[in-house]
Amino acid sequence: MEGSMRLGSIGAGHMGGAILQAVLDTGLFTPQRVHISSPVPSELEPYAKRGCRTNRDNVETARNADLILLAVRPHQIQDVLKEIAAETEWKCVLSIAAGVTVASIKESLPNSVAVLRAMPNLPLAYGSGATVMAIPGRDVPNRFFDMTVNMFKSAGKVVYLKEELINAATALGGSAVAYFFRMASVMAGWAEQNGIHPYEALQIINQSMAGASEMLTRSEKTPSELASGVAVPGGTTEAAFQAFDQAGFDEALIAGMNACRDRGIELVSSS
Ligand SMILES: NC(=O)c1ccc[n+]([C@@H]2O[C@H](COP(=O)([O-])OP(=O)(O)OC[C@H]3O[C@@H](n4cnc5c(N)ncnc54)[C@H](OP(=O)(O)O)[C@@H]3O)[C@@H](O)[C@H]2O)c1
Repeated sequence: MEGSMRLGSIGAGHMGGAILQAVLDTGLFTPQRVHISSPVPSELEPYAKRGCRTNRDNVETARNADLILLAVRPHQIQDVLKEIAAETEWKCVLSIAAGVTVASIKESLPNSVAVLRAMPNLPLAYGSGATVMAIPGRDVPNRFFDMTVNMFKSAGKVVYLKEELINAATALGGSAVAYFFRMASVMAGWAEQNGIHPYEALQIINQSMAGASEMLTRSEKTPSELASGVAVPGGTTEAAFQAFDQAGFDEALIAGMNACRDRGIELVSSS
């Protein structure tokens, strides 16, 4: 089955597009085995050009797929499930929607449908994703779980967590890349005010972020130990840290992560 499994993507926006790009670039699915539906023609066009089957009809996509990726926004999930339910018997539905639980998806589908939940992030489109997979129920056939893990592993790292931790993990991965982009944006703006052209500034910032990531991955030190190695007493970095402390840097970060996690919980209660 794995070699002939067909993927259906309902929605092809930011995250759906990143996953589609990854599975097509890595050759995990040939374009002929990828069916995509979306109301946005410009989002379908690049996949149609690659040979994928594209249309506006979610029912058609579900009918032609074995593994059905729900790549619409959380509040759109239930409408989509109502639409496609009759075409999902004995298939697998994979949700990446923030906050939407496996239980709430199962309630809207026939009993024979396997449901998987994952929280990927956008760097997946460049082979550097971080995906949290909810540990699946026993009713999920291995072939669907294995294929889903392969999809995400082909474009980055996969971490497995209990489903109840996915909202907290969203604050670390799914959303966290945007914190880094925001930090880069503030730093680039500051650089410009200090006479450094944004192009040069971003080269320095990007490479520093990549270097920090490399050190976090390869050194055996904790993040705090690595920070202390740069922020030596009386030095420039320590001066920056003191200013960060006065401005409430850590508190602001924690408040943002709490808000991110809690929004996931709110989405559960409204879905
Ligand atoms: N973006 C991320 O970094 C990220 C990370 C992890 C998880 N996620 C999850 O991924 C999901 C998609 O997020 P996104 O950022 O990719 O959103 P997005 O860019 O808005 O993509 C959603 C796409 O689905 C389309 N759509 C709306 N209703 C539809 C329907 N009934 N049938 C088929 N397609 C429909 C939308 O079209 P319209 O624009 O016309 O509505 C849009 O093109 C969300 O559930 C989100 O929680 C996102």
